[in-house]
Amino acid sequence: MLDTLIFVVLPYAAIALALFVTPYRYFKNRLDWSAFSTQFLERRKLYWGSIPWHYGVVIVLAGHLIGFLFPSAVQSALSNFSMLIVLESIALALGLLALVGSVILLIRRASGIVRAVTSYSDWIVLLLVLNQAITGVYMGVFARWGMEWYLYTAVPWLYSLLTLNPQIGYVSELPLVFKLHVAGAFLILAVLPFTKFVHFLFLPLDFLKDPPLLYRWASRKEKKVAIEETKRS
Ligand code: HEM
Repeated sequence: MLDTLIFVVLPYAAIALALFVTPYRYFKNRLDWSAFSTQFLERRKLYWGSIPWHYGVVIVLAGHLIGFLFPSAVQSALSNFSMLIVLESIALALGLLALVGSVILLIRRASGIVRAVTSYSDWIVLLLVLNQAITGVYMGVFARWGMEWYLYTAVPWLYSLLTLNPQIGYVSELPLVFKLHVAGAFLILAVLPFTKFVHFLFLPLDFLKDPPLLYRWASRKEKKVAIEETKRS
């Protein structure tokens, strides 16, 4: 029952939400897509959280995608044991980077003035990304060699989902930590159109076109007034 929920119901529900709600929100009011910046409230922890998180997770996700798109090529690369060790070590290091980043982002949200402007959806996003990092790193350490078994279990199951013929037999025997990781991944997809996650649909292109906004204070006095106003609201 739980397996059907995680490996069939949740994925299709998440894909439907992402596919239908995202364009609806895009056309209804694109201006409310971007959350207001907290960079002017706290910058240091944002930097030390956001940069490791993004570098870690973007590369790890590219690895997930390569395994999904080219399973035979990855399988033959991993048949060389030294290659398997090297790639697993790199993935683990990147997973740890993402983990450290997400913990710093969570601490930042929980402390100081940033907490006052944090919404439920911010917490949900942060807890979901933390879940991905914790369960991913846990598998990297305790469920060896994930890169390899991913190809024989998760990849055929994902293809079966895409062909509308879900075969949960490929993944139902995998440990609970894997199920939490997959549930987290599809929950991220499900909440995508309702939260700040939606920015990743834009970022890769817009980031190259326009540099990110940088807020500067005109004077110390203005900074103080703005902080007081934020505290009051
Ligand atoms: C259905 C989707 C997904 C599947 C089947 C999956 C599967 C896996 C597996 C099997 C591992 C262990 C790899 C290893 O031992 O080397 C792993 C690691 C990891 N995953 Fe995922 N994953 C999925 C989605 C995601 C998403 C959406 C994120 C982030 C937003 C994510 C982040 C990570 C991280 C940070 C690691 C740790 C890196 C490592 O130690 O290898 N995963 N994933």
